[in-house]
Amino acid sequence: MGIDTHITDYDWNAALAALVWQVELGVDEVICESAIDRYALPDRQAPIIPKAKPAAPVMVQDAPKPDTALAAQIAAAACNDLASLRMALDGFEHCELKKGARNLVFADGTPGAPLMIIGEAPGREEDLDGRPFLGNAGRLLDKMLAAIGHDRSSQEAEKAVYITNTVPWRPPGDRDPSQDEIAMMQPFLARHIALVKPRVIIAMGNIACAALLGQSGILRLRGTWAQSQAIPVMPMAHPAYLLRNPAAKREAWADLLNVQARLTAGVTR
Ligand code: URA
Repeated sequence: MGIDTHITDYDWNAALAALVWQVELGVDEVICESAIDRYALPDRQAPIIPKAKPAAPVMVQDAPKPDTALAAQIAAAACNDLASLRMALDGFEHCELKKGARNLVFADGTPGAPLMIIGEAPGREEDLDGRPFLGNAGRLLDKMLAAIGHDRSSQEAEKAVYITNTVPWRPPGDRDPSQDEIAMMQPFLARHIALVKPRVIIAMGNIACAALLGQSGILRLRGTWAQSQAIPVMPMAHPAYLLRNPAAKREAWADLLNVQARLTAGVTR
């Protein structure tokens, strides 16, 4: 299928949206307005080529940066299942985080689970292993999930859970991912959610809230339902925060019960 290059009077965002839409429709090549006859013989008469002036040296800093946002949108939009999303992330070379990481930390749990957890970023243990939430915060997360009847190793529809992060590579020194990194990886996260199709999402901490809701201030956001991609989202304090602030566990418990009630009531949208 070919792409129509006759795009005029489009602003950049409209052109980007049109391009992503065409990729979703299955466009995989660019064509011109009129067909090229690749068998036509060249003109007999050699063209008169004016003597070229020596080109000005190109300064490295003037070179256009690859449009990483566009690259991420196109790569993510082309993924029709989780296996291709994992491969697309593995092949995505525009994010600096990838250079310092040992492994892609894609996800854990059961695709199609009713509950999806979105954390921040992998840490040391996750980076070594390739699965999210394995360290102290992960162990607390597992206990929190068990308290409302969910288990990342369960295949049972009602107990299953799917876990991923806002960014799939460990940031150096375990710093927070930057706004640019969150924004760059956001199309992959959005696609991940669309492919898992959870009934309810828990956004663990500020970084997940920034990516999903475009908001920060987790202690203000927590406990109140929000929406992302038409799916209910419960913002919650991150388990790492709860380990440092055990007094906040009482509110986290209330948030978990709220999630459980929404899942068991089947009220999802
Ligand atoms: N914290 C997160 O947010 N995600 C992980 O995978 C590990 C710790």
